[in-house]
Amino acid sequence: MTVRDVILEILKAHQDDWASGEELSVRLKMSRAAVWKHIAKLRNDGYEIEASTRKGYQLKSAPSLLLPAEIRDGLKTSVWGKRDIVYHPETASTNTDAKVLATQGAPEGTIIIAERQTRGRGRLGRTWFSPRSQGIYISFIIRPRLSLQAAPILTPLAAVVAAEALAEETGLEVFLKWPNDIMVSGKKIGGILTEIGSEMDRVDFAVVGLGLNVHIWGFPDDLEGKATSIALETSRRISRAGLVRGCLGKLETVYEQQKRSGSGPLLTRYKKLTAVVGKEATLDSGGHRFSGRVCDLDEHGALLVEDGEGKTTRVVSGDINYPFRGTADP
Ligand code: BTN
Repeated sequence: MTVRDVILEILKAHQDDWASGEELSVRLKMSRAAVWKHIAKLRNDGYEIEASTRKGYQLKSAPSLLLPAEIRDGLKTSVWGKRDIVYHPETASTNTDAKVLATQGAPEGTIIIAERQTRGRGRLGRTWFSPRSQGIYISFIIRPRLSLQAAPILTPLAAVVAAEALAEETGLEVFLKWPNDIMVSGKKIGGILTEIGSEMDRVDFAVVGLGLNVHIWGFPDDLEGKATSIALETSRRISRAGLVRGCLGKLETVYEQQKRSGSGPLLTRYKKLTAVVGKEATLDSGGHRFSGRVCDLDEHGALLVEDGEGKTTRVVSGDINYPFRGTADP
């Protein structure tokens, strides 16, 4: 825990009265002048803290930013969110930052989060609309024991985590469009971008990036009609930190289950949320377009598509169109 985390913990424990300067300086083992400097920094970050020479300090309000201390407040995980949370008011892309940190040896559990991305990236070279404090832009560093061949399972894993957390936190009916689109009312509300660093045939690290549209009330022309947000779907504001905590809790249980029991239980959840198996689909993959019936997903989350002549093709990545719940169009 950092000094600021401890100060916030004490202030939150004294929400209805005052935390004395004496208590803070004893708990933090620092002078009252040093405590005051930390309080000044917190105020600078948007915490409204009243100070009285006689009574001490009282927290009046916390900023609605995704500051590490806000995410950790009430977090019930043991790994995810308990290690380093790197916070950026603004960055190019949290996935790019995470890849740099992972290459430098950052451990599993490291999280990078930003209020705004100037070059947010989506799959297939697309950009990710990332306006300030209106979404969740977060990347997780994972060091899974997986072969390169098995690595695609990480996208369904993250998609299940995000979809289930989103449904539980908002009450929305959430679907997944294979492989990584998080959908509500037939429109995209979030997405996953998984990037791998590898050694020979083994995954060294994976960066799993999650983007969720939270308080976005309007989209650029090219996304209009295709994208939606929690605010548009529910007409209310939610706690972004609460939703991040929900995702961290889910990630911990889903990832543990995957390590313990393999991908079977995860794929059952993923198949339910995608409803892709058994559907007639059109695919764009590896530069060509074809159609067929999705007969199953393999153990790594790849599609097995059967054409009219009974030939089965395995599809690891690409764009798919199929009729799924929540949309009228295939
Ligand atoms: C997609 O649907 O194409 C994937 C979108 C992934 C967006 C997230 S936002 C956080 C992380 N940083 C990025 O640059 N991209 C991912």
